[in-house]
Amino acid sequence: MNPLLKKNVPLPLYYQIEEYLKQKIEEKEFEVGKMIPSERELSERFEVSRMTVRQAVTNLVNAGVLYREKGKGTYVAEKKIEQPLKGLTSFTEDMKRRGMTSSSLLLAFDVIEAPRDVRKKLDLSEEGKVYCIQRIRIADDKPMAIETTFMPQELLPHLTEDIVHGSIYQYVEHDLGMAISQARQIIEARAADEEEAEYLNISPHSPVLHIERKSFLAQSVPFEVVKSTYRADRYKFITDIDR
Ligand code: GLP
Repeated sequence: MNPLLKKNVPLPLYYQIEEYLKQKIEEKEFEVGKMIPSERELSERFEVSRMTVRQAVTNLVNAGVLYREKGKGTYVAEKKIEQPLKGLTSFTEDMKRRGMTSSSLLLAFDVIEAPRDVRKKLDLSEEGKVYCIQRIRIADDKPMAIETTFMPQELLPHLTEDIVHGSIYQYVEHDLGMAISQARQIIEARAADEEEAEYLNISPHSPVLHIERKSFLAQSVPFEVVKSTYRADRYKFITDIDR
């Protein structure tokens, strides 16, 4: 038996190889963005079949720890961003807290008749107009999410493209002096469609996290409905729970 693997433990070999690879990544022997040894090299190193190695590597690819480049090899992925589920924060604040630089690529800034579901969620009348703002949210030059924001026009009559290039929350709170009080968020798993994949720089059908947030100002006035698509290979959501 290869000394790198333990035989008297009820842990499958592929699992032990996964742990070994994760440890090497933690110890920075395998660095982010660098190629890991090939399946052939690993199967020789561990003296196991290539199938076993492939299973370990595939599991780590599925977990977002590694990624494959067709015809080249397998590389170490960046660590996922851990996003707490508590606390009503903005993208700009989240990135700042992590020491990352945030920016946005504005894809659309329109005033439209609210789609039915948005109209209901924002308690608008039939004629209610909303801004429909589509932004790619970028952290340190990498696309993290695509966000479509709907906000009642009458609440924010002076909103401009310039403002939404920056932080909407900052504008609402600091420039308009309105308090954002709470939000409800729904998170669902999905596969990226062609457009999302292109904007997020991932392959079509890759897993993404779809988040819908409806936020309120004081006195429970709804002010935004936001549909966001986050890269599932870059994000994980963390929550503490009490019993
Ligand atoms: C996050 C939320 C959105 C919110 C946005 C505001 O991305 N998912 O619902 O609208 O933050 O961000 P900013 O203030 O940076 O524009």
